[in-house]
Amino acid sequence: MNPTTETAPIGVFDSGVGGLSVLREIRRLLPAENLIYVADSAHVPYGEKSREFVEQRAVAISEFLIAQGAKAIVVACNTATSAAISTLRARFALPIVGVEPALKPAAEVTRSGVIGVLATRGTLSGEKLQQLRQRVAANVQVLAQSCEGWVEQVESGDLAGPEAKALVARHVLPLIERGADTLVLGCTHHPFLAPLIREVAGPDVHVIDPAPAVARELKRRMESENLLSAAQENGRDYFWTTGDPQPVSRLITALWGRECEVAQICLPSPGAGEEIQGVSPPRHT
Ligand code: DGL
Repeated sequence: MNPTTETAPIGVFDSGVGGLSVLREIRRLLPAENLIYVADSAHVPYGEKSREFVEQRAVAISEFLIAQGAKAIVVACNTATSAAISTLRARFALPIVGVEPALKPAAEVTRSGVIGVLATRGTLSGEKLQQLRQRVAANVQVLAQSCEGWVEQVESGDLAGPEAKALVARHVLPLIERGADTLVLGCTHHPFLAPLIREVAGPDVHVIDPAPAVARELKRRMESENLLSAAQENGRDYFWTTGDPQPVSRLITALWGRECEVAQICLPSPGAGEEIQGVSPPRHT
């Protein structure tokens, strides 16, 4: 085993703290690995930004992770995967694993034939989702639900209060009323609202979080490229943010379940994050 493979970290990033829902599955599955997490808190949310803006952030963060010695990168963000994964794979030689809405398991498990996809506008308007849908969910009805405000709600740290519940109900109930019996969490922030989503949707509705499958895919990729650490002791977690480290430390500590120190990084910014112009969410079909 190459000694750098032993200690080189796996880099994971998201617009904010949502990617921690993926990081915790990676930590569970790969306890010996060192993990570096970047929250691009200065630019959250990505979902309303242009594809080009998100792509440039993804490239800048990946360059940072590679400079830290990363041996693999996980794009723990549906929006950034949709906007940037092809560019990242073309530009960087290390394994890069993304996350996309879990339409395939949803299409397999639905009994009503109607599935709801909860995601950002950026993910819902991306070509990748349309292609995935045609490939794996052509035989079911897919209701696309753009969840404005959910990312900000999770970033506020209020995951269970009346405001959070009202927000979740506003987007989930219309899907249930239209017959959805399966909901796909198409944004990595959403698993932190899963208890509320389940409460609102009721016990008969499946709620699918792709994070465990992403961690398994990462493990498979790393195994096949002989990149897994054989260290006996547990790996370490390192947290970085492009935002103000104090509130981000408090939030990450709460979500990660133990005291976390978060360091600040300054990365080249592509300029003011322009809003998506003239893109309307895909129609419910
Ligand atoms: N966690 C990101 C995702 O999976 C959130 C995107 C955003 O910042 O709007 O899409």
